[in-house]
Amino acid sequence: MKEHSQKAETKKKVHIQTYGCQMNEYDTNKMLEVLRHENYSQTDCQTEADLIILNTCSIREKAENKVYSELGRLRELKSVKPDLKIGVGGCVAQQEGKDILRRANNVDFVFGTDNLFELPKILRRVAGRKKISMTERHARQKVRNFIPDYTFLQSKTFGVKAQIAITKGCNNHCSFCVVPFTRGVEVSREPEHIISEARRLVAAGTREICLLGQNVNSYKANGTDFVELLRLLDEIENLERLRFISPHPKDFHSELAEAFITLPSLCEQMHLPLQSGSDRILRRMRRWYTMETFYEKVALLRDRIPHATLSTDLIVGFPGETDEEFEMTMEAVRNVRFDLIYSFKYSARPGTRAAEYPEHLPENVKSERLKRLLETQAKIIKEKNAALTGSFQEVLIEGKHHRKENTATGRTRGYHSVAIKDCRIKAGELLQVHITGANPNSLIAEPLYTSTVSG
Ligand code: SAH
Ligand code: SF4
Ligand code: F3S
Repeated sequence: MKEHSQKAETKKKVHIQTYGCQMNEYDTNKMLEVLRHENYSQTDCQTEADLIILNTCSIREKAENKVYSELGRLRELKSVKPDLKIGVGGCVAQQEGKDILRRANNVDFVFGTDNLFELPKILRRVAGRKKISMTERHARQKVRNFIPDYTFLQSKTFGVKAQIAITKGCNNHCSFCVVPFTRGVEVSREPEHIISEARRLVAAGTREICLLGQNVNSYKANGTDFVELLRLLDEIENLERLRFISPHPKDFHSELAEAFITLPSLCEQMHLPLQSGSDRILRRMRRWYTMETFYEKVALLRDRIPHATLSTDLIVGFPGETDEEFEMTMEAVRNVRFDLIYSFKYSARPGTRAAEYPEHLPENVKSERLKRLLETQAKIIKEKNAALTGSFQEVLIEGKHHRKENTATGRTRGYHSVAIKDCRIKAGELLQVHITGANPNSLIAEPLYTSTVSG
């Protein structure tokens, strides 16, 4: 009892701001778990926090700039609250290391993408007003349990949807990409640890798991490849849905396509990053596929599951991209008719090959191309959403709509976001719905039957 009240007195608050991709969101959750064990509770309010961590992204210049402007804003807070500790983690931290301490003197510590489990040690050292930069990479093993299996990581209750990192790092070195520098070489996590994390999550109420990695389909550990890993996960009872992000098109083969048919939990949805519709640009990007082979990959999936949804990443204005080459990207988008595209203006990243290429394009050309691409995709989505209207879908309920009363939200197996009217079904339930309409980014539905569950 005494110990309990002492703990309550010393409880500190941490605020973590997350930039970038799912891998960073995943890392933020792990940081919170580690810090919870160190007697920190999470706060959404910066001014309440004793510790602020920026979990950063350096994929594009804009993302990196955001970090420095946020650190600038935090200067004022630190001046009125001198005991506040500020830490920078994630991909900018990994790349810039102690330069961040020089550039932003309100930062107390910097930690790399391999060092988040060392946060307790770092915080103890920082408490003595020391400034610390810890960005060492761990041993270069191809297979490893890079997420320690601490017992306290098991105690948290998880949500309906959860993510599990199965690989970290990347060996591909696409010429535009900073990730191999910020996350290191590819390491596959031991299958036993992935399965036990999945079992724990499902036992705590998770119904859907998304496997994370920069190139998930090159996963290989202790004789288990990616498809085998999917098979093992599919066997977990009460795991309703399984997804993964991102596969690399060069490693997408018929065996994986077949898994969409044979594994009931594997949702009929895939993210297949194309990047460009021009073979010359793809070569210069070092993507190792052509448009012809990309179309073959799309067919591998759609021949088996015609209604499978497909999303992609595209870069416009890569160095030297001509008008004709950009038109090839537009043509690919019109041909494949993706369900979702994430499109970006090329941004030169330090240390990457493409940054050294000649013929960097002016900002206005990139903006114009991006605008045209988005307009084309908006038309496609409107048509695709209209085609879904009237269909029946299975939705995994995620919770209440944040604005509309008596409305629940969830996603279809194809990952369409759905708002379901007159629905009070609990999060975690599966529900059959009738799609009655669509907004640009979500579908509208009615429950097909009222479940026995209420409230
Ligand atoms: N591993 C993932 C990509 C992670 S980065 C994959 O291969 O799919 C997410 C996306 O950001 C990339 O697919 C690419 O479209 C975009 N991106 C990466 N570097 C970029 C850069 N320098 N400029 C613009 N977009 C970039
Ligand atoms: Fe970057 Fe290419 Fe690796 Fe994806 S596959 S993380 S784009 S280097
Ligand atoms: Fe950004 Fe690092 Fe992810 S650079 S996109 S946070 S891997």
